[in-house]
Amino acid sequence: MKQDMIVILDLGSVENAELARNIRDLGVYSEIYAHDITVEELQALPNVKGIVLNGGPNRVVDGTPVDINEAIYDLGIPMIAVDHPSSKAEINYTQLPTQEELKHFVFDVCKAETNWNMKNFVHDQVQRIQDEVGDKKVLLALSGGVDSSVVAALLIKAIGKQLVCVHVNHGLMRKGESEDVVEIFRNQLDANLIYVDASERFLTKLEGVSDPEEKRKIIGNEFVYVFDEEASKLDGIDFLAQGTIYPDIIESGTKTAKVVKSHHNVGGLPEDMQFKLIEPLYQLFKDEVRACGLELGLPEHMVFRQPFPGPGLGVRCLGAITADRLEAVRESDAILREEFAKVGLDKKVWQYFTAVPDFKSVGVRDNERSFEYPVIIRAVNTVDAMTASIEHLDWEVLTVITDRILNEVKHVNRVLYDLSPKPVATIEWE
Ligand code: XMP
Repeated sequence: MKQDMIVILDLGSVENAELARNIRDLGVYSEIYAHDITVEELQALPNVKGIVLNGGPNRVVDGTPVDINEAIYDLGIPMIAVDHPSSKAEINYTQLPTQEELKHFVFDVCKAETNWNMKNFVHDQVQRIQDEVGDKKVLLALSGGVDSSVVAALLIKAIGKQLVCVHVNHGLMRKGESEDVVEIFRNQLDANLIYVDASERFLTKLEGVSDPEEKRKIIGNEFVYVFDEEASKLDGIDFLAQGTIYPDIIESGTKTAKVVKSHHNVGGLPEDMQFKLIEPLYQLFKDEVRACGLELGLPEHMVFRQPFPGPGLGVRCLGAITADRLEAVRESDAILREEFAKVGLDKKVWQYFTAVPDFKSVGVRDNERSFEYPVIIRAVNTVDAMTASIEHLDWEVLTVITDRILNEVKHVNRVLYDLSPKPVATIEWE
């Protein structure tokens, strides 16, 4: 069952993703394509019911104003234009149409059906994956993050044990996180899961390294080496699955949109590994990925997990990582998460965590002088992680968290709250 689709042609807009989202919110599938798509390419797309010419400030490429291939105007597909002069469009809007205006175009003019939902998506993808994979095997690096977890669940539904998941514990995971991956995927979903405890190996490599970028590089490279070693022990793997999602593709830039950032969780695999790629979530926005996860039966705490950087607690144990401070970060983060969940802040705040710097201060514990580390609490809200504002935490909540950290976390005698927005600070401390 293929979904009806509204195609957005990017003529220099900065609002392509927002428009696609708005159309999908009506229950109709929508994808963004570059302005210079050919008639043949467009005709090869399934069930195109309408086209939006989406113009905007990036309307010029190399000094030339952009337009679509003339012949597309003659295909007889209903068309509207936003901020783009075109006499062939049904309606010309000067700004993004309202939901009411979109509804009129999508349903009354294009006669599209509301068949975009996660049940249909899962059904279609399962079929597609089964057709493509046949009786071959697929490899997946399962970090336990939202995207890789949903890919895993989808592939398990489609091909069961032909999916081989590798979970590398780099020793920089949050408290209980690797155990959770094993519990959910191996024990509950009966997945073919290889669990690699590489903690010692990572921590040895990182010993004495204090430069943040150097730490990131070591963690990234080591991850690839460990994954590569595990992969080379396996026979007969033809496919590699990845949790690439739609924003990764949009952010990598279309012809009129500048590259915002290259996606940083992809790539890095050795060139001699010859896999065919499977990226079943590449059409989905983040909230759709979460809905897909729920549809597949993944638990809410996994599906609504806050973002967690690839290098994990490694960039929150500031400077050269030591075992005592790593433990302090892990334990204080667990307390923060627990207390946030108790008062519902886990559903409200975008990202929250603790960091432990590599200096000590003087305190007094049990009537004796102490010389221990501080814990820094960070809680921020953002739309796209490019800018962020701090959460105005309730004094009571901060007090409860502070008391618990001071009483329960070893090597710690102070708790600080970071008030800095991004910019001038970044979200992470390293
Ligand atoms: P910053 O600190 O740059 O963080 O304001 C923005 C967002 O990106 C996350 N982050 C990372 N994610 N690998 C990742 O996968 C990384 O190396 C990395 N560094 C930062 C950060 O947690 C925040 O959500």
